Amino acid sequence: MRIIGAPSDYGANRRGVDMGPSAIRYADLAAGIEVTGATVHDAGDLAVPRAEERDPDREQPTVGKAKFLRETREVSRTLADAVADSLADGEFPLVLGGDHSIAIGSLAGTARDAEVGAVWFDAHGDFNTPETSPSGNVHGMPVAAALGKGSFADATWARADGLREENVVFVGLRDIDEHEREAINESDVTAFTMSDIDERGISTVVEEALDVASAGVDGVHVSFDLDWLDPNEAPGVGTPVRGGATYREAHWALEAVANRDAEDGILRSMELVEVNPILDQSNRTAEMAAELAASALGKRIL
Ligand code: ARG
Ligand code: MN
Ligand code: MN
Ligand code: MN
Repeated sequence: MRIIGAPSDYGANRRGVDMGPSAIRYADLAAGIEVTGATVHDAGDLAVPRAEERDPDREQPTVGKAKFLRETREVSRTLADAVADSLADGEFPLVLGGDHSIAIGSLAGTARDAEVGAVWFDAHGDFNTPETSPSGNVHGMPVAAALGKGSFADATWARADGLREENVVFVGLRDIDEHEREAINESDVTAFTMSDIDERGISTVVEEALDVASAGVDGVHVSFDLDWLDPNEAPGVGTPVRGGATYREAHWALEAVANRDAEDGILRSMELVEVNPILDQSNRTAEMAAELAASALGKRIL
């Protein structure tokens, strides 16, 4: 498997999330994964210009209501190539963010030459467009971008060609904007909220999510936003929302991903996003991310 760092913070308007890849590596990511028997190849970080390095005389990098869309496009193209190269080399791509805008690149890369589904573990729907977004932050838009919604219809760089809307599944939603709600309800994606998990339990919901995501596709991308977890468990995120998944629910969910992969080899690519060590308490969110990656890749208690 190949670790690809994507230290972009252009999508969140919040500094510190660019340190996510370092924080997750520092939490012994590679060693945790190696206990599963996998060989870990760390490809380092993609070159992402720091906002402060930019020319102050440069024109305002805002396109419509979406902030830093031009920079995000640059990062997305680079990351899409890195993910596609990893797959072509036969190495499972594990992408470390960065804010969730990097998913535009991950999805474009993993869906370049294949039909794919996606399981989106997140408090948020990330289904805004530059037209509906209340914040203008692109980390609230990657699913809409990959599916070509709104003005993303013209953004060929953002579209994930082989991503099928009916194979996109949200798990654990609890904070959705008004117009985003309408868009999700009108779309063909499947959305499980935290209330669904309360009512039906994490195991039923995740098994159903995997069924939907994997139906008729070549592989599934797992996009894991650390704010899916309850902020008590993972405080180091830019947009925390109370009432999230517990420590055990999160491990169970990703162990279920690994179990399914052992049965049918469906896991194609994965990313861990929104880890912000400067908002954290002694790097516990990054430690959680590293542990969960090991669970997703087959680490077991016994
Ligand atoms: N819905 C809000 C917005 O669009 C928050 C999005 C948070 N997204 C995330 N990946 N943490 O601004
Ligand atoms: Mn290699
Ligand atoms: Mn997200
Ligand atoms: Mn989120």
